[in-house]
Amino acid sequence: MKTVMITGCSSGFGLDTARYFLDQGWSVTATMRVPDAGLLPVSDRLRLVRLDVTDPDSIRQAVAEAGEVDALVNNAGIGWLGPFENMSEPALRRIFETNTFGTFAMIRALLPQFRAAGKGVIVNVTSSVTMLPLPLLSVYTASKAAVNSFTECLAMELQPLGIRVALVLPGQAPATRFGANAMDLMASAGEAPGEYQALTAKVMGEVMAKAASEPTRPGDVAQAVWRAVTDPDCPLRLPAGRDAEALAA
Ligand SMILES: NC(=O)c1ccc[n+]([C@@H]2O[C@H](COP(=O)([O-])OP(=O)(O)OC[C@H]3O[C@@H](n4cnc5c(N)ncnc54)[C@H](OP(=O)(O)O)[C@@H]3O)[C@@H](O)[C@H]2O)c1
Repeated sequence: MKTVMITGCSSGFGLDTARYFLDQGWSVTATMRVPDAGLLPVSDRLRLVRLDVTDPDSIRQAVAEAGEVDALVNNAGIGWLGPFENMSEPALRRIFETNTFGTFAMIRALLPQFRAAGKGVIVNVTSSVTMLPLPLLSVYTASKAAVNSFTECLAMELQPLGIRVALVLPGQAPATRFGANAMDLMASAGEAPGEYQALTAKVMGEVMAKAASEPTRPGDVAQAVWRAVTDPDCPLRLPAGRDAEALAA
């Protein structure tokens, strides 16, 4: 039986992806910063593991607990929408520590195992915002664009070792906790200088209007991750959700 290890399973895409793989008969190592057994169905194919991707000890312990895995899905991430000038240094670093360095660290922790086995799949969940530059998303977009470029190079480096690497690029999904989690972080920023207010109101209005049509659903991302993991002929970059697919086209 095949096993997938997924980061950030407490909500949103990660939670749906864990459910999806369980439904397909896979073993799932669902990782969360605060494991909650009530979120996923009871199954002897499910292992809940505590993991904070920004904490090296936590990564070491989680990878040891997970044992042998066939696929790693780097899904954990946090967002930010606001003027770059208004962003604190700790917030900026936290976004990169989670979205970018957290992804690097997880891959480094699992690569020796994949290399020894001569097989393995790594899927990095980034974002469709990397396909279209938008104001107020500079740092978040940069943190994900770095993972895109990294993934494209890594795929070439690992292909001769039998290890496949892919990207899933979701569109905007209001149904997850992404917006609320970003708001918690953004609350630390305080009021932006007045010169940014008109742009902020305009962008927020556009985001809310788009959210109302729910362009990407968590299920779209779960299915895209499934395809990226199980289909050896899957393209390296896989948009998920109708807005992401339209952008990619
Ligand atoms: N929703 C969107 O519109 C959208 C669009 C494109 C891409 N994405 C990307 O898709 C991924 C999943 O987002 P989502 O929409 O499902 O948001 P979500 O509901 O907020 O889920 C994010 C997950 O990441 C976890 N996480 C955050 N920091 C972590 C850390 N340091 N260590 C381990 N886990 C951590 C969260 O855990 P806690 O519960 O502990 O905070 C949560 O389980 C993210 O990488 C995001 O950037 C989202």
